[in-house]
Amino acid sequence: MGRKKLYIETYGCQMNVSDTEVIFAIMAGRGYDRTEDITDADIILANTCSIRDNAEQRIHGRIEQFAKEKKQRPGVIVGIVGCMAERLKEALLDSGKVDIVAGPDSYRNLPTLVDAVRPGHPQIDVMLSHEETYADISPVRMDKNGVSAFVSIMRGCNNVCSYCVVPYTRGAERSRDPRTIVREVCELHAAGYKEVTLLGQNVDSYFWKSKEGTVDFADLLAMVADVSPELRVRFSTSHPKDISDKLIETMASRSNICRCIHLPVQSGSDRMLEKMRRRYSREWYLGRVAKIRKEMPDCAITTDIIAGFCSETEEDHRDTLSIMEEVGYDYAYMFQYSERPGTLAARNYPDDVPPEVKTRRLNEIIELQNRLGLESNKRDVGKTFTVLVEGPSKRNADELCGRASNNKMCVFPDKVHKAGDYVNVEVLSCTSATLICKLTR
Ligand code: SAH
Ligand code: SF4
Ligand code: F3S
Repeated sequence: MGRKKLYIETYGCQMNVSDTEVIFAIMAGRGYDRTEDITDADIILANTCSIRDNAEQRIHGRIEQFAKEKKQRPGVIVGIVGCMAERLKEALLDSGKVDIVAGPDSYRNLPTLVDAVRPGHPQIDVMLSHEETYADISPVRMDKNGVSAFVSIMRGCNNVCSYCVVPYTRGAERSRDPRTIVREVCELHAAGYKEVTLLGQNVDSYFWKSKEGTVDFADLLAMVADVSPELRVRFSTSHPKDISDKLIETMASRSNICRCIHLPVQSGSDRMLEKMRRRYSREWYLGRVAKIRKEMPDCAITTDIIAGFCSETEEDHRDTLSIMEEVGYDYAYMFQYSERPGTLAARNYPDDVPPEVKTRRLNEIIELQNRLGLESNKRDVGKTFTVLVEGPSKRNADELCGRASNNKMCVFPDKVHKAGDYVNVEVLSCTSATLICKLTR
């Protein structure tokens, strides 16, 4: 029998992108090749997200589509894996349209589950683990150009932010053996990769203990950055309560650690932060920002914001707008609060901000961020940056695009360079999304 074809759609955060690469690696060892054509697939998987209700609604829509595919080609296996599989468990099988349900810690078991599927006998494994980090698996890279890769350094989350479903879908926090991380980064470097992004829900609480001693996130970051000065290092996500002076100073000490910190604030109101169980205050947060600015004046700071959390007043909302102004975020991901069943907030606080008020507040936040983003880009006009070329720009085939260390997208006319090259550019002008540049020496 020939090799079979596996098709995976990935939703949600970068951790899921990284997990999909792990799944391809596990399945490749058992005779499955990747296909990007769903009509060609023997197995269709959706690696899913539960972070907000609309994320899950999208997946329900996809399950309907997959069912059509199954009707045309009986024998096709449909699996729901990832966070939504973990949250909904058996309930996903009720429709009769799903053959496999596998949680984020069950991917090693996927080939067995696939083999065991029979008509009318779906398979499920949603056991969470305290140890699984897939440390020994070399992910099958999905990126197209071989320039930039994600490396997962830990799994799960031990915080209990009251709105958040992640601790329930991904389980307890565990760090991956640093030797396996550095080995993976060395392999990527040897394969020509120029940039790695270290991933975890709360990278600042990375911790590894062995006979040789302990490794915290700052140590790990230094080890990875020292693989090669030619290799750029990024990481995500930092938690404001845990980001240490040592980490900030380690970043400042190495120019190949990119000048961008994703530091989700969620809200500018102390009352909301308390209720969200973020375990920092507005003042503490601004203190962290001041430390970052002191050590790295050129460092971009980006954030996540939730509008309309339980009992949020206009005053709380204005506190969010004012902290955004005060920090002057370079970029932000902005959301309306979406109640997630089973979380502390769902159990303890009514979701009482009316939908139209949530929408209005979110729109005000987005409008403000559009201005802040443009102002941030304008401050870069006239500066020169080293850009890692990603490829042709989407708008104009005579132009290349790539990111500066501060993660801003730069476009510039260039017929010489290619993906993976470093080039120096000068910023001539900007839009709210892009720096428009020319090549320079
Ligand atoms: N671990 C990261 C965040 C992971 S989830 C951190 O702690 O910062 C990504 C973002 O989704 C969060 O930062 C938050 O802004 C948003 N989010 C999480 N749960 C949400 C919910 N119930 N409703 C709306 N947004 C939510
Ligand atoms: Fe969710 Fe908070 Fe953990 Fe982030 S730190 S994943 S928001 S519980
Ligand atoms: Fe979504 Fe799970 Fe990531 S809920 S945001 S895919 S950790």
